Amino acid sequence: MLPAVLLLLLLPSPDPRTAHGHPLYTRLPPSTLQVLSAQGTQVLQAAQRSAQWAVMSLATKIQHKLHECQGCANDATRPGHLRHLASFLQDSSESGPCGERRPAAANVTRAQGRIVGGSAAPPGAWPWLVRLRLGRQPLCGGVLVAASWVLTAAHCFVGASNELLWTVALAEGPRGEQAEEVPVNRILPHPKFDPQTFHNDLALVQLWTPVSPAGPARPVCLPRGPREPPAGTPCTIAGWGALFEDGPEAEALREARVPLLSEDTCKRALGPGLRPNTMLCAGYLAGGVDSCQGDSGGPLTCAQPGPHPREVLFGVTSWGDGCGEPGKPGVYTRVAVFQDWLREQMSAAAAATREPSCRELLAWAAPAEPPADAAAPPGLCAFYARRCPRAADRACARLAHQQCLQRRGRCELRSLAHTLLGLLRGAQDLLGPRPGLRRRAPAPARPARALREPPGPSHSGRRAARDTSPKQSPEQRGDTKDCPGVKALQQKLAALQRLHAWILQVPTEHLAMNFHEVLADLGSKTLTGLFRAWVRAGLGDRHVVFPGLVGLEPATLARSLPRLLVQALQAFRSSLGAPSR
Ligand code: ARG
Repeated sequence: MLPAVLLLLLLPSPDPRTAHGHPLYTRLPPSTLQVLSAQGTQVLQAAQRSAQWAVMSLATKIQHKLHECQGCANDATRPGHLRHLASFLQDSSESGPCGERRPAAANVTRAQGRIVGGSAAPPGAWPWLVRLRLGRQPLCGGVLVAASWVLTAAHCFVGASNELLWTVALAEGPRGEQAEEVPVNRILPHPKFDPQTFHNDLALVQLWTPVSPAGPARPVCLPRGPREPPAGTPCTIAGWGALFEDGPEAEALREARVPLLSEDTCKRALGPGLRPNTMLCAGYLAGGVDSCQGDSGGPLTCAQPGPHPREVLFGVTSWGDGCGEPGKPGVYTRVAVFQDWLREQMSAAAAATREPSCRELLAWAAPAEPPADAAAPPGLCAFYARRCPRAADRACARLAHQQCLQRRGRCELRSLAHTLLGLLRGAQDLLGPRPGLRRRAPAPARPARALREPPGPSHSGRRAARDTSPKQSPEQRGDTKDCPGVKALQQKLAALQRLHAWILQVPTEHLAMNFHEVLADLGSKTLTGLFRAWVRAGLGDRHVVFPGLVGLEPATLARSLPRLLVQALQAFRSSLGAPSR
């Protein structure tokens, strides 16, 4: 049931301008403009993230190639920004700092309460803790173990393995700064996960874009070697799970301190369900302190003492017999025994052998025809051409390309279903937000110019977002003559940068879409019940005005808004200098 008051607020009110006593135009009210702006901003952020990812991953690929070619390039010749981002992309928590808590957070937090019953964790206390959402529904916890990788429980994905539906909400900052939400690129459940027994309950989730080194999210340390701390060691669990069995989920993050228990104690307490080779248990036999439903996939970390104390991930929340029941400690997947699998999956070598993910294929503008040079099919379809026996086998290359496009088509269908659901949800939100739904605050509106004024983009004072704006780097310059395949990649990189330049050049802090005005012509109702309208919107210091169609009743209004968003995106794209395709 839609709240009638809200509907009234969202519906347009007649414009004061009249001719012969009749209103000529009507404006959409500020509440609707705000909803449009908030959704537009999210679309822009997603577009920038995927553009950055596409450019950076290609740049990294070129660097790898250059590395392979003796004397082609070395670290010293690479620009610092690319070196930094590339190493970040390479993704091993070993390559950078891990498990460091902010001193303030570490001091404030004295985890002694319970997740069951619990003590709230201060903002930013666990920078590696993430939340996995299916659609908008938070379902599991997860742990950031490298810039692009989250470790979680495999059982979170039972019946929901479509990665296009999942997103990861990263840790918020110490002052409660908004958590970033990143789409999932790939889900890798442990191949031996058994949904009946929860044996090997572990999955790696690859993020679509790596976490920003400037943001609050940080990876935890993975154990080195098979040894775990001895029984009795106090470790920490954290999550947003239920406060008691079958109880409500916590509104805020909670943490608890639980001691590791010995294998014997665990076996005695939990019976044959406990497989000590891949599961450990922790908690109090007296009960009362435990993880619970919704905490799955979250961390069990133990502090490694020393001059630089670090938190090391020894367990991933997996299952329990009730929550906090006496004699029933919680069960956690033993991370230390999976180290080899984890490192292998996150390695660049494994990445090179994987079939492209749906998200990668969808982000890629596929050429309709296979490339002329069968030896080096560009982009992701190269994976399918690997089976071709000879490099110059045109027929095989064509077949491989076909296979690739077919898979892309299947991905498109999956994504279309997802998009439609998203639009429906958007419409639903617009007409009546559900309780408990957090929406990003709309960006503050900028001073409006008159609607009829032509859009006059100002170019002054703009800085490029991150380091992915089009500029010449060794990856693009012709200083790589003896490195086969690099030239084609360089051309592709340049094309990619041109294609995405419109969004890459917008500084991240300006990445907010503001719908200033939607002015509908009341005398222009179309057969589909929509009205012709002029839309005025801003992005950073750019302003665009474009014609659109808008509904003025609840159902038609909801139907027309997604299209306005797309049109605004297109308008900015052309105004910010997209190449014509
Ligand atoms: N399986 C639960 C989840 O999906 C986690 C249960 C943990 N239970 C416990 N008593 N420690 O969230």
